[in-house]
Amino acid sequence: METKRGSWGTNFGFLMAAVGSAVGLGNIWGFPYKMGANGGFAFLLVYIVLAVIAGFTVMLGELTLGRKSGRGAVGAYQLLSKRFKWVGWLGFASAFLIMSFYSVLGGYCIKYMVINIGDLFNAGFGMAGLDAGAVFGNFMVSQAEGVIYTVIFLAITMVIVMGGIKGGIEKFSKIAMPALFIMLVIVIIRSVSLPGAVEGLKFMFAPNFDPLKENFGRVVATAGGQMFFSLSLGMGCMITYGSYLDKKENLERNSVIIIVADTLVAILAGIAVLPAAFALGGEGAALGGPSLLFVTLQDVFSAMGGIGPVMGILFYLLVLIAALTSAISLVEVATTFFIDRAELKGREPKRKLYTLVVCIGILVLATIVALDGLGYNGLPMPLGYVWLDFFDLWSEGIMMPLGALLMCLFIGWELKMGAFGEEIEQHGNRFRSRGFMTACCKFITPICMIFILIVQLDSFGIIEKIFGRGLFG
Ligand code: TRP
Repeated sequence: METKRGSWGTNFGFLMAAVGSAVGLGNIWGFPYKMGANGGFAFLLVYIVLAVIAGFTVMLGELTLGRKSGRGAVGAYQLLSKRFKWVGWLGFASAFLIMSFYSVLGGYCIKYMVINIGDLFNAGFGMAGLDAGAVFGNFMVSQAEGVIYTVIFLAITMVIVMGGIKGGIEKFSKIAMPALFIMLVIVIIRSVSLPGAVEGLKFMFAPNFDPLKENFGRVVATAGGQMFFSLSLGMGCMITYGSYLDKKENLERNSVIIIVADTLVAILAGIAVLPAAFALGGEGAALGGPSLLFVTLQDVFSAMGGIGPVMGILFYLLVLIAALTSAISLVEVATTFFIDRAELKGREPKRKLYTLVVCIGILVLATIVALDGLGYNGLPMPLGYVWLDFFDLWSEGIMMPLGALLMCLFIGWELKMGAFGEEIEQHGNRFRSRGFMTACCKFITPICMIFILIVQLDSFGIIEKIFGRGLFG
């Protein structure tokens, strides 16, 4: 059934798009490092517990609200709620903030594919004998290049979203996600067979409960923040994707599949990345963030000899695909808002035009981040932050945990489980987690969210700025 609004062709297509949204830069550079630095296996346990009590709740909550209302983030709250009408706007704004830095980083992936292609053919645009730190530094201060690659990344994203739910997003994800998985396996095989790779695996997996004992709060909040970002939760992405889903599909099962797949890819990304970083990255190699991706790992590819550029192209293509499928979900949040509005006003939706408008809006913010080049270029710093971190602070630090908190309160206390469950129990599907969801939405998840919100603010230095001292000394 194809409505004017559009819909997914198959449940598999929806899953590929949703897992594609979840699997992104967060999995590849965030998770492995955070797991290693916060207790390895002990961290993984905390992550899984949180994914069950908060991740599942918010995932199922978002998908259900989306499908029930048949509208995106903004429209869903406006239709379903009296007291929380405005919550969707948090998500709408977050989409622009997250995309402001996501598209810059996506552009960096394209640049690094180009560098490795240059190396493969010994063309002038490769590493030119420099080390990766120098190449990255030169790239950061080359502001025009930063903007150009950002534009290229955004343009690709835009074209896919313009293709629509089934003809664009689903079509791309159905090919890209299996391809990503195969590339990941190839990179893992090369990585773990490097001499000295075991150190990397030890860093990531060795169980160490000391971080938990010493600083339980910080470990829990780190795991929680990472989980929300990695699962694309808290800003209506899954409301939007859920709104295009057929009424007969099983929302509980889909929620579990998305969460399990995303966690699995995060662990696999660690096995792909950390052994190589330890084996060839050398002393002082950065193990997280942009420096891991673009300095440590580029050094790894350069040290691999002949096969290096091939592995480099493969790897940055993999990261680019992961970033693209996440970026399209963020753009879709904003595009769907305009489509819903047109439908409400009885107008013909103009998807292509809306997508263009959204991407131009994103480009304005992204240009600031690109010109800033991670702070290399001395742009004025808002509240003392690099622009990328500033936009990240607002979205990931404040608006997303707040959005998730308000959603739970809305479902638990205003909508109530009866109306919520009706949406799930269609076409013979059962609502197996009813009791669990009730407890989580009303009490457990909101408490988790408030806790994560406070510690996120602390880790961004906000608590210290206001109260003169941070939470953890
Ligand atoms: N989950 C993606 C990642 O891990 C990023 C992302 C896509 C996202 N859509 C989102 C994060 C919505 C928060 C909200 O990189």
